[in-house]
This record gives sequence, C-alpha cells and structure tokens, in this order.
Amino acid sequence: MFLTSISPSTLVALVLPLLPRALSSPLMKRGGSFLALHTDFPDPSFVKTPEGKWFALGTEGNGKRVQVAESDGFHSWTLLDIEGLPKVAAWEEDAQHFAPDVIRRDDGKYIMYYSANSKEVGPNQDDHHCVGTAISDDPKGPYIPNDKPLACDLDKGGAIDPAGFRDADGTLYVTYKVNGNSIGHGGDCNNGVDPLVPTPLVLQKLAKDGVTPVGDPVQILDRNTADGDGPLVEAPSLVLSSGTYYLFYSTHCFNEDTYDTRYATASSINGPYTKNNEQLLKTGDSPRLISPGGATVHADDGNRILFHGWCDASMKQRCMYGANLSLDGTKASIV
Ligand SMILES: *[C@@H]1O[C@H](CO)[C@@H](O)[C@H](O)[C@H]1NC(C)=O
Repeated sequence: MFLTSISPSTLVALVLPLLPRALSSPLMKRGGSFLALHTDFPDPSFVKTPEGKWFALGTEGNGKRVQVAESDGFHSWTLLDIEGLPKVAAWEEDAQHFAPDVIRRDDGKYIMYYSANSKEVGPNQDDHHCVGTAISDDPKGPYIPNDKPLACDLDKGGAIDPAGFRDADGTLYVTYKVNGNSIGHGGDCNNGVDPLVPTPLVLQKLAKDGVTPVGDPVQILDRNTADGDGPLVEAPSLVLSSGTYYLFYSTHCFNEDTYDTRYATASSINGPYTKNNEQLLKTGDSPRLISPGGATVHADDGNRILFHGWCDASMKQRCMYGANLSLDGTKASIV
C-alpha cells in the first residue's frame, strides 16, 4: 500500500540523504564529470597557455558577448569580468554571439572562431548566422574581429558552432554546423516537421593564418532519423588521438532533456566518420546533468572535455562542466 502510492520524487527525497556517505566511501572511484563553473556559460571552449594556465570562452551571457573564464588546474574555474570581443565586425549585428572557440596559432597568437547574426539575410529565414574569426595576443582577449566572415551558408540556414583543429602535420581546420533547422518547417528546434532539413557538420581547411579558407568545405556528418539524432546534429569538436579522428557533437534540441553528446570516428580527417551512436553524456548522468552538450574536447595535453548542462530543472542557465576522457581505439569514455 505505502510503496505503491509513493511517487518517484518522494523516493528520491528519501534516498538522497543516504548518498553523501556512499560518495565518500573509499570504494567510490574519483573522476566522472564535475561542475566547473556555476554560472550561465554555454558552449565552452578552452586553451592552455605555454605557462600552463587554462582559459575558457563561452557564449554570450553575464552581460558579455564573449565570456572568459580561467583556471590553474582545469578543475576549478573563475569567471573573469572581461569582454572577450569589445568591438564587433562590420559584417555582424551586435546580437547572438554564440559558441566561441579558441586555438593557439604557431606564432603564439590566439584565433577565436565564433558565430553571430550577420547583417546580410538569406532567402526565407529569420536566423542568419555566420562564422567569423578574431585574433588576440592574449587568450582572454581583447579579440579583434576580421572584416569578413569565414563562412555563412545563408541559403542553407547559416553557419554556427565553429571549432578549430590542428592536424598532426600542423595544418589548421575549422569545423562548423550548417544551421539547416533555422529554415526548417516547425516543431522541435524548428526541424521536427517533414520534410526535415539537413544540418550538416562541415570541415574547412585553413591557411597557416587560421582564418583564410583553402578550397571548399567538406561535409563530414549529418543528422539521421535512424541514428536517433532528432532534429539536428550540432556543436562539432574534432580531436586526433593515436591516429583516430574523434568528432564530438550534440544531437536533439538544446532546450530538451534529450540533448546529449555523442561522437563519430574516422581514420582520415575528411572521413568517412562512423557514428558510435552511444550517448557519451546524457541527462541523468552524474552529477545530475541536464541536457549535456555544446562540448569542446582537446587531446593534446591529457584528454579533457568541457561542456554545458542546465544548472537546474528551471532550465534557465547553462553551467559549465568538465571531465577527463579516455580515447582508446575508437571508443571515448568519461573517466
Ligand atoms: C583528471 O586527470 C588529472 C591528471 O591528468 C587528475 O589530476 C585529475 O584528478 C583528474 N580529474 C578527475 C575529475 O578525475
């Protein structure tokens, strides 16, 4: 009688007080995902300086277009009261600065890739993001934007979620999402109604300067209903480990608890990429993650990931989380 009438949330409330003891048990192994920054800091990316300090950039929030955080040991992060992009470029509106990504160039300068609303509007669409580039001597900025965007794809829905990548031979690339769902036909993230639109992840080779495209972008992944991607794939992040390219990405809509982090692997940078189709990070994973995605991974100094998840069930702010990763063969796991 008592047990059948108990609600799941009451059960959680009864069991929760028992957890701290279990967590401090010596049998419990250290590791897993950890809360890195308890503030709205979506789509984090990160870079390590030669001096060993870590810097993270995040989507607009806390009154900044580009947010900046720092860390000495990667585990504990501090939000800095700094505007990463004090001036916007001629091509962009002062709106919707999303998903900044940073890499350190061979000459020691830092290149930021980011997406923002472009002044130019494509056919039949409200959303019109382009990917732009900006440069700084300092990882925390100020980043000076280039006059022209790197990629727009306005006829296909715009370009968002860029992530830089340095290949084993030093060649630079940027991977980004063609934002097809912005020209979708309604429903979940505007792409839940047939005919569904492609939301491809593409790879653009770059010159040594990290900002000039070389040749045309190559499509390396797309959403697929049979793979359980929901309305889209987005937020690509590419790393190379022991000869295997790992392409991390998110599926589903960021405002649903189905939003997650998955990966695909390839033995050559242009693919073909094979989706693993397991959820590397999903709602409910420790420590109570909600919609974990927008991840950035680096594999050049330990395998590390930063990502966001809703701070709490009100789903108003996206906190930054981190973890160590194991990359083994074609298998990625949180350790
Ligand atoms: C991540 O790995 C580093 C060593 O590279 C270790 O010091 C740290 O404790 C690990 N963090 C977690 C959360 O396991």
